[in-house]
Amino acid sequence: MIEDWRQGGFGIYIHWPFCQSKCPYCDFNSHVVSDVDFHQWEQAFIAEISRYASQVPDRIINSVFFGGGTPSLMPPALVKSILTAISNGWNLSNNAEITLEANPTSFEINKFRGFFDAGVNRVSIGVQALNDIDLIALGRLHSVKEAYYAIEKAQEIFERVSFDLIYARQHQTFGGWQAELSQALALGTDHLSLYQLTIEDGTAFGRRHAAGRLKGLPSDELSADLYAMTQELTRAAGLPNYEISNHARPGSESRHNLLYWNCGDYVGVGPGAHGRLTFSDQRFATETALMPADWLSNALSGDGESIRARLSTTEETEERLMMGLRLSEGVAIDRLGTLSQSPSFSIKINDLGNMGLLWMKGGRIGVSSSGRIILNAILRELLA
Ligand SMILES: C[S@@+](CC[C@H](N)C(=O)[O-])C[C@H]1O[C@@H](n2cnc3c(N)ncnc32)[C@H](O)[C@@H]1O
Ligand code: SF4
Repeated sequence: MIEDWRQGGFGIYIHWPFCQSKCPYCDFNSHVVSDVDFHQWEQAFIAEISRYASQVPDRIINSVFFGGGTPSLMPPALVKSILTAISNGWNLSNNAEITLEANPTSFEINKFRGFFDAGVNRVSIGVQALNDIDLIALGRLHSVKEAYYAIEKAQEIFERVSFDLIYARQHQTFGGWQAELSQALALGTDHLSLYQLTIEDGTAFGRRHAAGRLKGLPSDELSADLYAMTQELTRAAGLPNYEISNHARPGSESRHNLLYWNCGDYVGVGPGAHGRLTFSDQRFATETALMPADWLSNALSGDGESIRARLSTTEETEERLMMGLRLSEGVAIDRLGTLSQSPSFSIKINDLGNMGLLWMKGGRIGVSSSGRIILNAILRELLA
């Protein structure tokens, strides 16, 4: 039997945990430090990559993703030595996607050419807002002008360019987001990630919100309208959503995103990086220490992984459902094993289908556009 991970392919996630400052909404594993010993980090990444290459050799890499934190703060030479270590360990597919997340400050824009020369062929730029007042409220260190310049430069240098915007922000109106999104679509990238602002516990926004001091957040009704309008405008511009928050011209979807949502295998290297690896048909979840200093010392001592847990068949199936339902194309029912054969699951699928929240077609199930807004509730119901 063909191992299921092959439906998603194989990739590598590299986590760079440092940022110039901490944005008030962000709960990613990101840290602000005054000094980074790049040489030590290089040694640690290379050691981990070769450890994994000896454990899962003979795989073809479809995607490498440098995420963060702010990987555009890495020196291009460090990105290059990591990519060299990866290509020493595995073969890269002809059209491997090599993405790096970049912040649009001038310091980082000046390094775009260096990242390209190092082997990066796709950048994902964190623009977040196309209005300077909101950029300040979001704690960003760049202006709209710099963001435009970053997109223009990136389009000159890289084959593929995406950028992120956050909407449903404080005091944002329907008309305001409509105008901003139209401006964003006019920039002509083939991929856009459009996230509704989430207030995360443990962040500065989370604390302000709990104290009743985060004013002007949209009502649930306005958020739903903003989401629906986002789908309409992006579809009309030829970049329909292929996942809840991700939009692309057909064929320009992020291969790394698709690898996650199709439950491929991936190696996770760096502080807080997660991985999924299949050995002889048994799938394992891997985790690493969250704190940069802990991960660094573990990796330099020969093992940067802190947890390797075997997933049960039920956990695997549930993960395929949770990931697959995020995608517009849904998930193949025959990947859902015994879950799909259970009578109560079929009843729930029918009920949700009758409510217009789910569809079933050509051996796949997926969530309709009205269901997507309440995906978590649908998953809770299906997995109860
Ligand atoms: C790893 S983060 C950021 C990468 C890069 N450091 C940056 O700031 O551009 C990836 C994306 O998640 C989104 N994001 C992070 N926190 C969010 C939140 N609380 N609500 C909505 N989107 C969020 C942002 O759009 C961000 O660009
Ligand atoms: S949004 Fe990006 S720059 Fe801001 S703290 Fe998070 S990872 Fe760092």
